[in-house]
Amino acid sequence: MDAVGPAARDQFWVWWAMLAVSLVVAAVVFALWLFTFRRREQPQRTPREERRIMLRWVLGGGVALPVVCIVALMVFAAPTGRGMLPLPDDDAERIDVIGHQWWWEVRYPGEDGEADVITANRLVLPAGEPVDFRLTSADVIHAFWIPRLGGKRDMVPGRHTTIRLEADAPGVFGAQCGEYCGAQHTHMLLQVEALERDDYEAWLYARRASVSPREGDDETLAAFGEHCAACHRVEGFPQEFVVDDVDHDIQGPDLSDIGSRPTLGAGVLPMEEGAIAYWLQHHQTLKPGNRMPPHNHIDTETLQDIGTWLEMLAP
Ligand code: CUA
Repeated sequence: MDAVGPAARDQFWVWWAMLAVSLVVAAVVFALWLFTFRRREQPQRTPREERRIMLRWVLGGGVALPVVCIVALMVFAAPTGRGMLPLPDDDAERIDVIGHQWWWEVRYPGEDGEADVITANRLVLPAGEPVDFRLTSADVIHAFWIPRLGGKRDMVPGRHTTIRLEADAPGVFGAQCGEYCGAQHTHMLLQVEALERDDYEAWLYARRASVSPREGDDETLAAFGEHCAACHRVEGFPQEFVVDDVDHDIQGPDLSDIGSRPTLGAGVLPMEEGAIAYWLQHHQTLKPGNRMPPHNHIDTETLQDIGTWLEMLAP
């Protein structure tokens, strides 16, 4: 109810209008109900008169009243829905968001329309301008929902849906998957941060430029290459270390800037020193059923090295 964008503000008023109309309808129905308890003489009516009175109630209360209420609400709500449609000839910023069980993939298209910045579980957008979110899913139906900006919109596998949202001013907002999508639906949180246009550009630029995974020692890179790289991409990761001998179609979150993200496991753990190593050891207890296999076969020291190295990956 604490709106920070035009879509959410419109919805706020639709919500109040609906509440007001329903209260009026409820009051009228309640008054009629009390009216039936009134003591009075039963007038003598012919069956024909009875039928006419009954028909009047059915047509008035069952047809005319709902039509008036629904038309009034539609007139009120239609512009709200229209405001959230990306209309043609409009070059709003576009950000692609893909739902996965149970995390968010966020892709920023470059000049050629191909994603050149990919991140996960954190969405950065420019404030004060409309942004078109192009949505889809990699597995089941999820729903994209940033309550303070407006929403929500289903993310359907094999289809693209779009929602236009705008944040009035810079700030950090919570977002949550809005469609039950399996055991860890609750742990499908997304942190949304709106930045001034310049800061947004700077963030994108830093994400394009500064990732330098080579800083790790060869042993850690080899361990990541062997255990993690088949599912997790890290921009600029030296390909000679990648061992991809598993047959799978599961894709894990891009980790290129994982050190800069606010949480781990899409909202399960706050990102702090040592959190990644802890997550790598206990993720199946912290988020049971998540698609990353347990790491019991990898020794703790190696997991700690991988965790420490991943923490350094930040623009
Ligand atoms: Cu994804 Cu619920």
